[in-house]
Amino acid sequence: MPDGAGLDFFDLSPSEESFREAVLAGLARSRKAIPCKFLYDRRGSALFEEICRLPEYYPTRTEIGILEENARRIAGRIGPCCRLIDFGSGESRKARILLEALEDPAGYVPVDISRDHLFEAAANLAEDFPALPVVALCADYTRPFVLPPLPDGGGKNVGFFPGSTIGNFEPKAAEAFLLNCARLLGSGGEMLVGVDLKKEKPLLDAAYNDGSGVTALFNLNLLHRINRELDGDLDIAQFRHVAFYNPAMGRVEIYIESLAEQEARIAGRRFHFDCGELIHTEYSYKYAIPEFQRLAKRAHFTPVEAWTDTKNLFSVHYLRANGSAGDGFAGFGE
Ligand code: TRP
Repeated sequence: MPDGAGLDFFDLSPSEESFREAVLAGLARSRKAIPCKFLYDRRGSALFEEICRLPEYYPTRTEIGILEENARRIAGRIGPCCRLIDFGSGESRKARILLEALEDPAGYVPVDISRDHLFEAAANLAEDFPALPVVALCADYTRPFVLPPLPDGGGKNVGFFPGSTIGNFEPKAAEAFLLNCARLLGSGGEMLVGVDLKKEKPLLDAAYNDGSGVTALFNLNLLHRINRELDGDLDIAQFRHVAFYNPAMGRVEIYIESLAEQEARIAGRRFHFDCGELIHTEYSYKYAIPEFQRLAKRAHFTPVEAWTDTKNLFSVHYLRANGSAGDGFAGFGE
């Protein structure tokens, strides 16, 4: 434990049961699908960090550029003594840019589903920001949860949702997620959301099919995880990574394709795969700025400002909760 304000760790233990249930149910469907949050076990999280450094994967470095370029303006909007709640914090790389610019932040709350990864990242950050109280929360933010007691600095609660992870929800679910953020943040709550912009297909196709094959490893790691954790015997060489931009739907679609007609045992059950059959693992929706602003408004947020890069690849939205998000959990679907 580092000296100074230090680190608190709250484990809402996102259940390991649910991986088994999700896989068994998802592979029993006529259109096979496994929710994308299960891509992020320890190995998956490490591979994803590698994706973020790939030359083809422009979102991470572009978003970091936007945050660095506008850090002072963003900090000015946020004001002093805020509590920064980071949904899906990973290595907390982007939050560091904000924390360095913010005036006397009262607390940093990284929320992540990947327990070991979260603990490590939060401990490192607490060491580097000795005056900052860090309250790490291991939770599945696609499910309703409450915030642990946070240090009160008198400033705003500001949610931070970078990485265009909002695009990994279906639009309706993205709306429900934002609505629940508004509730979680309370009155006066604000959100900083990174959103990948619509663009030409070749650039998007390349970003999700990198030349060095890291994205394929990341996607196929899901099958390794099934074999490891659910006593599976999937022949991983008989599957491949597939990803393409679907302009009509405004989303990148990501699948694992079976390269042969085959069977596998998982957790004691048999599953059949046709040759060419797809297992859906993720969508990544892309939004033009006004399009995302309309979505935010439906979720009871007022769009305040949006920043982009000079090539118009990516956007960072600043949103203010209207203070009428209402009660009750809206549900994200899956
Ligand atoms: N949030 C990332 C995105 O939509 C996730 C991602 C990047 C991803 N590459 C992927 C998910 C490949 C599955 C497979 O850009």
